[in-house]
Amino acid sequence: MSGVEVNKLILAALTTLLVVLLIGNVVNELSHREPLERNAYAVAVPDTDTGGEPAPTAPVAAAPELESVTPLLASADLAAGEKVARKRCSSCHTFNDGGSNKIGPNLWGVVGKQKAAADGFRYSNAIREKGGVWSYDDLNAFLAKPKNFIKGTLMNFPGFKSVEDRAAIIAYLRQQSDSPLPLPE
Ligand code: HEC
Repeated sequence: MSGVEVNKLILAALTTLLVVLLIGNVVNELSHREPLERNAYAVAVPDTDTGGEPAPTAPVAAAPELESVTPLLASADLAAGEKVARKRCSSCHTFNDGGSNKIGPNLWGVVGKQKAAADGFRYSNAIREKGGVWSYDDLNAFLAKPKNFIKGTLMNFPGFKSVEDRAAIIAYLRQQSDSPLPLPE
């Protein structure tokens, strides 16, 4: 083999190598440019598409039933009720006939009376829109947690957890009236 032929062979080999490398490069480029059909790794996205239907809400544990005061009213401790009224309510309320409104309305005759009906008191819209009379059940719920029973009420009072406390104050309220509402059967 002459030197020239050897050179030709080497050139041919180098050319082939170059072409192979180029093709490999092009193939590599093309395969990278193809868009991925799906994420290379899974991303947890909550499925919120409910097709226009409201999303189902998680089941909420039912609120525990509020214990009724009605079986306790007849034998409720009136003296205890009066004491609680003085201690816990009298900073905002008067209870006597013709008593003035303070931060809260006068409460004479409130049991069985239309809600938000004390003369000259500016009630919140929340209590006015609640409507109806102050039944024993409504007072029970209101005095357990005022802001639960009437969302947006101005009465800033946490409420009584104990059903005996609620019965005592309601029995006392009932008596602050010209004609106390009959006790429940
Ligand atoms: C910090 C002041 C405050 C305290 C303490 C308070 N109240 Fe009230 N109460 C109010 C206000 C203010 C309203 C009017 C609520 C509204 O307009 O949303 C109200 C409303 C009421 C009503 C409804 C009256 C109506 O005419 O419809 C009752 C019943 C009541 N309170 C009972 C009580 C009792 C019983 C206590 C004590 C255990 C008490 N409140 C303690 C401020 C108070």
